[in-house]
Amino acid sequence: MASMTRVPFIAGNWKMNLDHLQSIAFVQKLAWTLKDARHDSGDAEVAVFPPFTDLRSVQTLVAADKLDLAYGAQDVSQFESGAYTGEISGAFLKALDCAYVIIGHSERRTMHAESDEIVAAKTAVAIKHGLVPVICVGETAEDLEAHGPSAVPVAQLTAALAGLKAPLDIVVAYEPVWAIGSGLAATPEQAEQVCAALRAVIAKALGKDTADATRILYGGSVKASNIAGFMREPNVDGALVGGASLDVKEFADIARFNKHVGT
Ligand code: PGA
Repeated sequence: MASMTRVPFIAGNWKMNLDHLQSIAFVQKLAWTLKDARHDSGDAEVAVFPPFTDLRSVQTLVAADKLDLAYGAQDVSQFESGAYTGEISGAFLKALDCAYVIIGHSERRTMHAESDEIVAAKTAVAIKHGLVPVICVGETAEDLEAHGPSAVPVAQLTAALAGLKAPLDIVVAYEPVWAIGSGLAATPEQAEQVCAALRAVIAKALGKDTADATRILYGGSVKASNIAGFMREPNVDGALVGGASLDVKEFADIARFNKHVGT
């Protein structure tokens, strides 16, 4: 089981799913389902990452009903403001009370050609605006074959953290590209091996205190039926969940991993 000093973090990345009306219904239902379940101790922090167009609706609902739910955006511009058609500024996300922002998801790295430099710039912008970056790293199947499991994630995280200074509030997500949306999750042992290597990268870049405090998530085909195995590992502090975060019951069951972590 991951360190008790780090509150487990279960994050739902909705990707390009659920419009703002659907997000309102979903968040209401999720909050109720989690509340019903919150009779046990050691609860995880739960966060959702809706599309940009949903964020204002989610903010209004969370604030009005004082929901015990965090939220964030799926991306942020590396630029502050100005002539960047289609981009979203970190300042705008902060104004919507986003706590988090996902940075460097593999879908953005591959489909939007986000380089390590862009990921580093976005990480710095998020921190500047008081948003906690959820920095995603992970190897493809070809990388795994050619370089082993840790080399690419370690290099990506090293690049993302270059130039940053401790103390720093960040979250790191290890998401093997071959496991995302494939139904083929890494094993808990594979996840632990890479997450431990990533914690060493944080220690080297930002010091041991920040490394000890940083939550490192596993992502890639996480479901209620496999979350417990990951959460038993000392360096896995939570999960970044895609497909399974679009089903209220499944996602709530993942957040309640405590119920089945001993099984
Ligand atoms: P998945 O996606 O859970 O559907 O594999 C994870 C992610 O892309 O964050």
